[in-house]
Amino acid sequence: MKAILDIENVSKSYRLGKTAVPVLSEINLSIKEGEFAAIMGPSGSGKSTLLNIIGCLDRPTSGKIMISSVDTSSLSEPELARIRGKRIGFVFQTFNLIPRLTALKNVELPMVYQDIPREVRIKRSMMLLEMLGLKDRFDHRPSELSGGERQRVAIARALINDPEILLADEPTGNLDSKTGQEIMQIFNTLHNEGRTILMVTHDLGLAQNCDRIIRLKDGRIDDGKHG
Ligand SMILES: Nc1ncnc2c1ncn2[C@@H]1O[C@H](COP(=O)(O)OP(=O)(O)OP(=O)(O)O)[C@@H](O)[C@H]1O
Ligand SMILES: [Mg+2]
Repeated sequence: MKAILDIENVSKSYRLGKTAVPVLSEINLSIKEGEFAAIMGPSGSGKSTLLNIIGCLDRPTSGKIMISSVDTSSLSEPELARIRGKRIGFVFQTFNLIPRLTALKNVELPMVYQDIPREVRIKRSMMLLEMLGLKDRFDHRPSELSGGERQRVAIARALINDPEILLADEPTGNLDSKTGQEIMQIFNTLHNEGRTILMVTHDLGLAQNCDRIIRLKDGRIDDGKHG
């Protein structure tokens, strides 16, 4: 399988006053099409930072990120926004749904920016919510849904533009273990359908169910060879 994502020598540091605080150092990583990889590592090791950079929510300080052979580190803001909207699906620990919108509207939202007719948007949103077992929840607002249901809405939203890569940052972190397992089942199904998934988790049991575990330590890939 070919690589869908290539990370070449990516470093990231944040500026605090006059000092640069390194958060990621010379990350090299390749993710193949259809791969389901887990990212693990202690709190503060740079997992979210790495995911945000891959998802074009943030930029590296140096290095290259190639998504399907497009170097996103050299793109302008509008170009980045387009890639983010069309090629990347993001699922967060805290769901990040819009409180005043119904489940259906939340799922539809990323498609609104893609110039797609309303009927098509609604049809696809309904199809995804149904697929995720939320047929009876179209008109519920996030506050009227359980945690697991909210996360399923968020997964539907992440899939709406049929992204090449699904990024998930501790998607089960706010759920009880049974609900977490259910969300994992959904990821497994998506993986079996060929979706490429990169998931940050603190749960070794969940990570072991992935094709590969990538370990981060102090902003570096921990291949067990150092320290
Ligand atoms: N905007 C920022 N400015 C300065 N430092 C930051 C910023 N964002 C993150 N950091 C620092 O970068 C380091 C890595 O943060 P990151 O959120 O990537 O860790 P993480 O591995 O996701 O941790 P956790 O498991 O707790 O979610 C931390 O030390 C954090 O304080
Ligand atoms: Mg994090």
